[in-house]
Amino acid sequence: MGDSREVVVTGGGTGIGYAVAAQFAKAGDRVTITGRREQVLAEAATRLGARHVAFDAADPAAVQAALADLPERVDVLINNAGGNTDRDGRPAPEPGDLAALADGWLANYTANVITTVLVTAALRDRLAEGARVVTIGSIAAKAGSGSYGAAKAALEAWNVDLARQLGPAGGSANIVAPGVIRDTEFFKGTVTEEWIRGRTDAAFNRRAGQPEEVADLIFFLAGTGAGHITGQVVHINGGAHQAR
Ligand SMILES: NC(=O)c1ccc[n+]([C@@H]2O[C@H](COP(=O)([O-])OP(=O)(O)OC[C@H]3O[C@@H](n4cnc5c(N)ncnc54)[C@H](OP(=O)(O)O)[C@@H]3O)[C@@H](O)[C@H]2O)c1
Repeated sequence: MGDSREVVVTGGGTGIGYAVAAQFAKAGDRVTITGRREQVLAEAATRLGARHVAFDAADPAAVQAALADLPERVDVLINNAGGNTDRDGRPAPEPGDLAALADGWLANYTANVITTVLVTAALRDRLAEGARVVTIGSIAAKAGSGSYGAAKAALEAWNVDLARQLGPAGGSANIVAPGVIRDTEFFKGTVTEEWIRGRTDAAFNRRAGQPEEVADLIFFLAGTGAGHITGQVVHINGGAHQAR
């Protein structure tokens, strides 16, 4: 890897992804952010001094088409796009409505697993020697949270295979699993301060995290000094995943 890396951050227009993109941009790396909303991305890219490519990472044809605009070589891939589709305003399935239950589970699987799998597979041949892939999981993979937690848990299994594939060329693949992180669009106004406090009280330091703290961890994992860390799930939640 040279000094200036080609970095792709999916979902880089807002929240954690934006903070990650800012961290790499500040370090002088060439950053490309992606997401579905062209306007959000364009404004974020201007602020960051980054490139942007708008596409739905859950849509195979859209990912394929986006390849023409994505970098020819990728040193660092941050699979950050995702979220809890149960918070998208869909009503909870009525008891016994198995079709609605299936839709809800598939929505979270698609939003978190399919997005990550498609983008990584599409860019697989472009990953440089020593490439770093960091994928955003969640404390929900350990603590539950229905189909969202199950989808994030699936990413942990997927990540092990990717780490195995990238290892021989000196590459790494890790999951960064945050607890509650403030100042993102994740909760979409669906939770109260009391709900957040209930979660953050489980952390040993009794607080939520900030996107910049997640970005610092990801930046470290993407660095040359972290090359022997691979196939891992790294928690960032003030210890909350060990609460009881
Ligand atoms: N905030 C938390 O407490 C928390 C905790 C644990 C894990 N996480 C995880 O952290 C990651 C980032 O979330 P965040 O908290 O920063 O929330 P966010 O602000 O909602 O960021 C999610 C980003 O992903 C993009 N995105 C979502 N689906 C996409 C798709 N199909 N194709 C392309 N882009 C897509 C969104 O942009 P568009 O809508 O424009 O596509 C958005 O920019 C997610 O994977 C989330 O599950 C968050």
